[in-house]
Amino acid sequence: MIDTSELIKKHIRTVPDWPQVGIQFRDITTLLQDPKIFRILMDVFLARYADQKLDLVAGMDARGFILGSVLAYELNIGFVPIRKKGKLPFATLEESYDLEYGSATVEIHTDACKAGDRVLLIDDLMATGGTMMAGKRLLERLGANIVEGAVIVDLPDLGGSKLIEESGLGLFKVCE
Ligand code: PRP
Ligand code: ADE
Repeated sequence: MIDTSELIKKHIRTVPDWPQVGIQFRDITTLLQDPKIFRILMDVFLARYADQKLDLVAGMDARGFILGSVLAYELNIGFVPIRKKGKLPFATLEESYDLEYGSATVEIHTDACKAGDRVLLIDDLMATGGTMMAGKRLLERLGANIVEGAVIVDLPDLGGSKLIEESGLGLFKVCE
């Protein structure tokens, strides 16, 4: 019988040479548009976090917003968006980073969480780890207690999961 992780992986499309030649882009829209598989995925996250006494879920722009807001809703806790630079209207902190195909800056509102809040950091995918490390630095600057990072897909050959683990942050991944 196919296991849950394999089933979820099977529903993620790989688009060659996007957004640049040489990148194998893992596209989760194929998973999200299938209600049965989307529910199976969210149930995996819910099972892991139901008893973790989280205060907040923080999601990385953009696909972390989809996963993070569903999870926060189901856990009956708040959601914090960590957005690409220039989109958040109130006072922000920012962190810059490199990723597989460029560089970016993300921001968080200065009042997004309180010191000591138990926060889960979620995104769709781990590649170089630049994005999640930037989210981690922002939450740490606000004094959050980051419970762990969570992704659907890890691409271990790009080194991100190793980097995250070396930084002391645990990482939960559904598939590779
Ligand atoms: C993708 C993906 C992760 C990030 C992972 O987002 O959704 O957020 O890259 O890469 P990393 O581990 O090398 O940092 P992208 O930056 O393409 O932005 P988008 O969500 O706006 O498409
Ligand atoms: N972000 C960085 N690398 C990626 C990839 N290969 N697929 C999807 N998102 C990514």
